[in-house]
Amino acid sequence: MRFDVVSMWPDMLRPFVAEGTLWAAQQRDLIEVHLHRLEDFSLQGRPMVDDRPFGGGAGMVMRPEPFTRAVEAIRSQIGRRPFTVLLSPQGVRLDQTLAKDLAHQRALTLLSGRYEGVDERVAAQCDLELSIGDYVLAGGEVAAAVVLEVVARMVPGVVGRHASASTDSFYSGPLLGHPQYTRPRTFHGMTVPKVLMSGDHEKIRRWRAVEAWRKTLRHRPDLVGLNG
Ligand code: ADE
Repeated sequence: MRFDVVSMWPDMLRPFVAEGTLWAAQQRDLIEVHLHRLEDFSLQGRPMVDDRPFGGGAGMVMRPEPFTRAVEAIRSQIGRRPFTVLLSPQGVRLDQTLAKDLAHQRALTLLSGRYEGVDERVAAQCDLELSIGDYVLAGGEVAAAVVLEVVARMVPGVVGRHASASTDSFYSGPLLGHPQYTRPRTFHGMTVPKVLMSGDHEKIRRWRAVEAWRKTLRHRPDLVGLNG
């Protein structure tokens, strides 16, 4: 799968894609990541990528042309239009199900905005406007990093079968994951639940199911249709 990110500060993302899961996935040719500098697509002789808002108000708004030109350049490079996503706090909220859907695309282009906003005509030309949560970041770079990692993990082969199976149980069921323990058996006076060392797989499965419910009811009752 091919990812392109268009941003004013692509260097913020370079170290992120040069380590860990994303780096390993690139080394194994499972994904490609291409980072683009928005200014490279600004209108000839005008490095300006933002301008004052029509209708007045504080701050600057990002102009539409550089984004459109960037998507056009990516399109001609890969020979087809990529699935295009504008990162913005006004978008639909990312979750595991949506990430899994996005991982079916052959090419995904993420457009990262800055300042007070992006001209609405950019969103109109995108396939999706996407938010990573109900808060406002200074720009879309951190959001792009989140989307890259979450979607790349859903590309077959990027994480091992074991890891993807445990992720499956998160996104196909409504519950949060159950608590996990490893060595040491006692840590700061807290001991590992005995059932986990019993070797009784049925008992362990039941204990995990109960604990997953307990955690979900405490932290995310909305996931099971209850109010907080
Ligand atoms: N840009 C600023 N805030 C954002 C958010 N919450 N999600 C995606 N992009 C953003």
